Amino acid sequence: MSDFEEKNAFFDRLVSNPNVRWLGQNTNHFPLHPKVREALEASIRDENFHVYAPPAGVEALREAIVADLGLPGARAFVTNGAVEALAMIVRAFCGPGRDMVTTDPGWKWPILFARRAGATVTEIPIWTPETNYRLTPERLRAEVGPNTAVIYLVDPNNPLGVGYSAEDIEAFAAIARSVGAILIHDSTYRDFADAHTPATRVYPEGAVTVVSFSKWLGFAGLRLGAFVAMPELMEKIAAVSDAPLGCSMLAQAGALAGLSVKAEWMAAIGPRQRANQAMIAEAVDKLPGFSMPVPDSQGNFVVVECIEAGIRPEALVAELGAHDVMIRQGAYHTPRFGHRFVKVSTTVPEAWVRDFVDLLPAAVERARTLNDLSSLF
Ligand SMILES: Cc1ncc(COP(=O)(O)O)c(C=O)c1O
Repeated sequence: MSDFEEKNAFFDRLVSNPNVRWLGQNTNHFPLHPKVREALEASIRDENFHVYAPPAGVEALREAIVADLGLPGARAFVTNGAVEALAMIVRAFCGPGRDMVTTDPGWKWPILFARRAGATVTEIPIWTPETNYRLTPERLRAEVGPNTAVIYLVDPNNPLGVGYSAEDIEAFAAIARSVGAILIHDSTYRDFADAHTPATRVYPEGAVTVVSFSKWLGFAGLRLGAFVAMPELMEKIAAVSDAPLGCSMLAQAGALAGLSVKAEWMAAIGPRQRANQAMIAEAVDKLPGFSMPVPDSQGNFVVVECIEAGIRPEALVAELGAHDVMIRQGAYHTPRFGHRFVKVSTTVPEAWVRDFVDLLPAAVERARTLNDLSSLF
């Protein structure tokens, strides 16, 4: 089977199985807010999707995205998920001799896009307690230079869950400015953080803030995200769009309703996902050799280190997968540190996390002796 056929069959088996507990992709499985459901249903009832959407998104949604970020004067460009926004920004600025600097771990796809464009990518290792599993301005300063076209920062970091303060963002922005680099502030998980400062606020001429509706609102399969930048920068990125016919009208109607009830929605699901994180921490605490390097994750997920227990992440993923519990092997995120950990997502019904923690001790024991592993993605 070709790589794509194999990968597709893997995910198709998952999406076709109604018993899967999705604890692997940071998707959000809490039932929709009634206002959002109503908006989606109204969109279907009124059949508002026979038309193409405006190419940068429905104006009301663009405005609501900018208002949500608190970036007066900035413009939003609505995309088919944050991933399309990231692909566009990389396409606009990376190329041979126009390089990218990012963290390891971080998110793998923009790295791939940059390499594909001919850029060299420097990944700064941050999996170390010495820096509290974070990028520091010193480390970043040491890695940028005249060829740095893009600094790609995931904040909160997926998978580690560390978030950055306003001072950190100012320091990173100053470094980007000093070499004339674009700062991509991937803010996909910002809504779960205690605090978040969009880099566009402190570096308006050179920072692009990327947001997603997949995680906080639960729209992963509806595919909607955006990038936000000041008008001149937005135009440069918009010029390389591959989606001149816009994004889903249905998703945009739902997203607009979502933003109108966001405070209420986050107040309801925020504590639930934090309680899920705590349930996992309690279970991990009881397992010899297991630990959580970032116990106060600012994302809707946690990393669980299993290296000291002598457990291969892939074996644990396979064992839990056999019980329809999907978690993610570290190697998805990082070849360098992937053998150390698994990642578990927490915007899910409490019963799913309960199933995970109940199955975990026996799965760990079986994973010790599991050798024959099929491919994971
Ligand atoms: C850091 C990061 N950025 C972007 C995305 C993509 O989000 P979207 O579903 O909006 O394309 C993800 C998805 O997991 C992610 O983890």
